[in-house]
Amino acid sequence: MKQIIDVELKTRKVDFIKYETDLLAVGQFSDVKGLDTLGKELNSKLDGEIERLIKLGDFEGKEGTGAIIYGKDRVAAKRVLLVGLGEKKKATLDTIRKAAANSANKAVEKKAKTLGLALHRAFGGRFDLAAMGKALAEGTYFGSYRYDEFVTEGENGRLGSLSVEVIDSDSAKIKKLNNGVTSGVIVGKAQSYARTLANRPANVVNPARLAEEAKKLARQTPRLTCTVFDEKQMAAKGMGGVLAVGSGSQSPPRFIVLRYSPPRRGASGKPTIGLVGKAITFDSGGISIKPAEHMNEMKLDKTGGITVLGTMKAVAELKLPLNVYGIIPSAENMPGGTSYRPGDIITTFSGKTVEVLNTDAEGRMILCDALSYAVKQKCDIIIDIATLTGACRIALGKYMAALMSNDAQLLKQLQRAAEDSGEKVWPMPSGDEYAQEMKSKIADLKNIGSKWGGACTGAAFLRQFIGDSKWAHLDIAGMEIFDKATEFTTEGSSGFGVRLLTTYLMNLAVK
Ligand code: BES
Ligand code: MN
Ligand code: ZN
Repeated sequence: MKQIIDVELKTRKVDFIKYETDLLAVGQFSDVKGLDTLGKELNSKLDGEIERLIKLGDFEGKEGTGAIIYGKDRVAAKRVLLVGLGEKKKATLDTIRKAAANSANKAVEKKAKTLGLALHRAFGGRFDLAAMGKALAEGTYFGSYRYDEFVTEGENGRLGSLSVEVIDSDSAKIKKLNNGVTSGVIVGKAQSYARTLANRPANVVNPARLAEEAKKLARQTPRLTCTVFDEKQMAAKGMGGVLAVGSGSQSPPRFIVLRYSPPRRGASGKPTIGLVGKAITFDSGGISIKPAEHMNEMKLDKTGGITVLGTMKAVAELKLPLNVYGIIPSAENMPGGTSYRPGDIITTFSGKTVEVLNTDAEGRMILCDALSYAVKQKCDIIIDIATLTGACRIALGKYMAALMSNDAQLLKQLQRAAEDSGEKVWPMPSGDEYAQEMKSKIADLKNIGSKWGGACTGAAFLRQFIGDSKWAHLDIAGMEIFDKATEFTTEGSSGFGVRLLTTYLMNLAVK
C-alpha cells in the first residue's frame, strides 16, 4: 500500500513579493470593493491582472471559488491563487479554514510541491491570530487529504508530499499565528489519520486489526496506553451486547480501551472524560439484513470509534491536562448460523436485559456495554459518537450531527466546540417520551422503537446506561461520508468529530 500524501506545515516570516513558492494563496471577500494592501501590492507587480480578472467578472470572491494568475518575473511565486471568502459580514473561523482547505485542495490538484498561505491578511484584526493559525492548519490537512492507498494504475506523478507555509512579513504576527498552527497541525494530522483508517474497507479492517492499530498508536504515543479485551475476556466480564453483535462474523469482536494520563499533576480538579465510539467494521444488518443498494457504505460504520482513536492521538500529542478514556467496542455485524437473532434476549454488561427486535439496530447493542464500562471507570463526563441511525440522516441531512444530552452545560460546551471547529451539531431530544418506547414486556428494554423519531429513541436507549454521569450523544450517520468531492476536500470519510471532540477538550483544558 502507498503512503498517504505527506503534508508538512510551518510558519515563516518573509516578504510576500519575494516569496518563492509553486502557489501563493491570498483571500478576497465578495462584498469588499477594491483590494487590500497585499492585494494592491501583488496587483501592481502583476501588471494589474488581479484587477482585470475581478473587473471582467471572472472572479467574484464567492466562497468555494478560486482563480489562478501566473506569476510574472516581479513576483517570486509561480502562481498566485485568489481564494473567495464570501461575504465579509458572514465570515467566521470556518471561512478561513475552508479557504485553506480550498487552497490545499488546489495545490494537490496542480501537483504543486509548495504552497504559501497569506489568507489571514484579508481578515485584518477580526479574529485572534492563534485561532486563525489553528483553522489554517486544520483546513490545510482537510483539503490536501487524498485516499489512494490501493490505486496502482494511472497515478503517475502523484504528489508524494506537500510543504505548506503560513507566511507574513511581520514577525510578531508570525509568532502568534505559530501558536495556533502548532496545535492545528496536530488536530489536522489526527483527522487525516482517522480518515485513512475509516476509508479502509472491511476486508482490510476487522475488529482485531482495529485493535492492533489502537495498540500501535499507544506504543508510538507517550502517555497513551491501550488494553484490548478479546471475545473470551468479554465473555468473562459479561459484555453480552458486543458479543451478540459479533457472534455472526468470522472476525471476532474486540473491546478497545485507550487511556491518556496527562503529564504531572496538571489535571487535578478537572473531570475525567470518557469518549465512546461505535466501531462496527461492517454493518450488513445481520439476520435483519439490509438491502443491497449502498450496503458498501456500511464499511464506514466504524467511524465513531475511529474518531475516538483520532481524538486520543490529538489529545496525547497536545499534552492536555485532562484524564481521558477512549472506549471503542468493535464488531462486524454479519448474518450466519451463529448470528444473534430477532427475538433473542441479551444480558448486557450493566445487567440490564435487551430484547432484540432488529439485528440491524446493533450500534446501541455494543455502545450500551461501552457506556456501562465508562461509568465503571468513574468518568464524570461521557460522550459517545456513532453512525447510529438512518433516521438522523433523514432529520438533519449531511451538514450537522445530532446532539443529545442530559446536561445543559455539556450541551453548550459542545455547541461552542462546534462553532470553533466548524463541525456542526444540532440539539435533539432523548427524554422520557422516547425512553418509554424502548421498554419491552419480556425484558428491561427492546432495541427498536416505533417508526417515528428513530434518532431520538436510539439516543433514549443509550441514556438508560449512563447512570448519574453527564452524558452527550453524537449521531453522525449523516456525516460520515462525502458522497462526492467538493471544493474543500475529496470524497470518502470526512473524519467528522476529530476536530469537534479535540476542540471541546482543548476548551475544557484551559477553563
Ligand atoms: N449503521 C446504521 C445506521 C446508518 C444508516 C448509518 C445509514 C449511516 C448511514 C445502523 O446500525 C442501523 O442500521 N440503524 C437502523 C436502526 C433501526 C433498525 C432501528 C436504521 O437506521 O435503519
Ligand atoms: Mn445497523
Ligand atoms: Zn450500524
